[in-house]
Amino acid sequence: MEKEQTLLARARAYEREHFAAHGDERPLLHLTPPVGWMNDPNGLCRYQGRYHLFFQYYPYSTVWGPMHWGHAVSDDLLTWEYLPCALAPDSQADAQGCFSGSAVETAEGLMLVYTGVPSPERQTQCMALGDGVDFVKYDGNPIIDPDELPTEYSRQDFRDPKVWREQDGYRMAVGSRHGERSGTILLLEGADARHWRLLGEVDSGRMRYGRMWECPDFFPLDGRQVLVVSPQEMQETELFHQGYNAIALIGDFDGRQFNRRSIQPVDQGFDFYAPQTVLAPDGRRLMIGWMENWDYCKKTPRTHPWYGQMSLPREIHLQNGRLIQQPAREIEQYWQNTVCVKDTLVRNFQKYPQISGRALDMTLGFSPAEEACRSVTVTLAADDTRETRLTCDFVRKELIFDRRKSGGVPEAFALHRVAVPELDARCALRIILDRESVEIFLNEGERAFSYRIFTPREARDIRFAADGKLCMQCTAHLLSREIKPGENA
Ligand code: FRU
Repeated sequence: MEKEQTLLARARAYEREHFAAHGDERPLLHLTPPVGWMNDPNGLCRYQGRYHLFFQYYPYSTVWGPMHWGHAVSDDLLTWEYLPCALAPDSQADAQGCFSGSAVETAEGLMLVYTGVPSPERQTQCMALGDGVDFVKYDGNPIIDPDELPTEYSRQDFRDPKVWREQDGYRMAVGSRHGERSGTILLLEGADARHWRLLGEVDSGRMRYGRMWECPDFFPLDGRQVLVVSPQEMQETELFHQGYNAIALIGDFDGRQFNRRSIQPVDQGFDFYAPQTVLAPDGRRLMIGWMENWDYCKKTPRTHPWYGQMSLPREIHLQNGRLIQQPAREIEQYWQNTVCVKDTLVRNFQKYPQISGRALDMTLGFSPAEEACRSVTVTLAADDTRETRLTCDFVRKELIFDRRKSGGVPEAFALHRVAVPELDARCALRIILDRESVEIFLNEGERAFSYRIFTPREARDIRFAADGKLCMQCTAHLLSREIKPGENA
């Protein structure tokens, strides 16, 4: 018990002491940790009228370490207020880390269900209850031990519980691994959240789609059921990039059996992983992901006393069987100084007087002024030596994101070409630049691409060019908000 208080109290004291607002260095509208390292969103929920977002957190260093849960609250998922660290790895069941999980409101308070790692060979599921600030771990933890599972499931890869309530009790979807190379999501039921019974598999990679399926979310959407998972070690295909992807499996669910109809990437950029969703009071389903990539985040520059950031919240829908994502409309409250431009682009890199800076939300519409228009390029975060380039190549049908001059992105991930068969000179782009990140939504959110950049903040130019003649309509909203002390401004 004494040790328990010591580790959490130590983390809370450390973050209080070392928190530096650095308001003008942090992203304007993306959550970063108070200090130290952040990965996956955890326990995204609404509780007592506000959004709560917990996250994988190691306050003492800007690289991953024994996992704690950090905690922030918000009214709009864009302006965040930090709360004290919620969980520390201070009990026998989680001595090596409190890994990812979810949160559910119960009659006993806010319940956190997370993966406790007692040793490198085992992962268990654990529970804690609290009032939205302080949490007490259940003394019967773990609530699920991997030895309760049939032997074909891994003891070592068993993590990231997503728990929700049904009329007759709770359900859990949790990541697991079947044999050597098949990620799978298990479905369990628990009458009281302390005792669980395996019902079966929600779905599995069946030797495709990566080695281990991490961080499931499982929810109804527009008449269907969606399973979002984040597989490790995927092979590159036309749809997925090499390594860590977030994917959506869309199908039907009768309460027991999930029947998959289709599979697609959630985000085709390199930096979007382990997303979670929450229902807004008005019924919209909003999604937030971790905006980094395990394959290279260890090699990116460390220029602040914190590392890691979340994506913007996105409203998600299904349209003709496909996942559609749009930046949550809450961002409109942060629009300032709207600039509209109509112009014909040609090869030289055109700048417009008020369209520049590192925090803006731009919507671009195009139409060819001559049939032979081959591509359009938007250059961001640029000066004489640095730039980040987004090119839509209408001939090769590719979207190309070039970070070779974006401040230290490791070479293997600096140039990204993504096949987009439907790409043509009538495409529409929404680009949100927030200091150290770029999120791109193509054709009203039919595809999304997220990328981190590390370019020093003085590089502020934005330029447009086309190969061939292209008419462009651009509406750019500069993003801004008042910075209040103690916030993540
Ligand atoms: C995904 C992940 C989870 C795990 C956590 C550990 O990014 O590997 O599976 O719970 O990170 O920090």
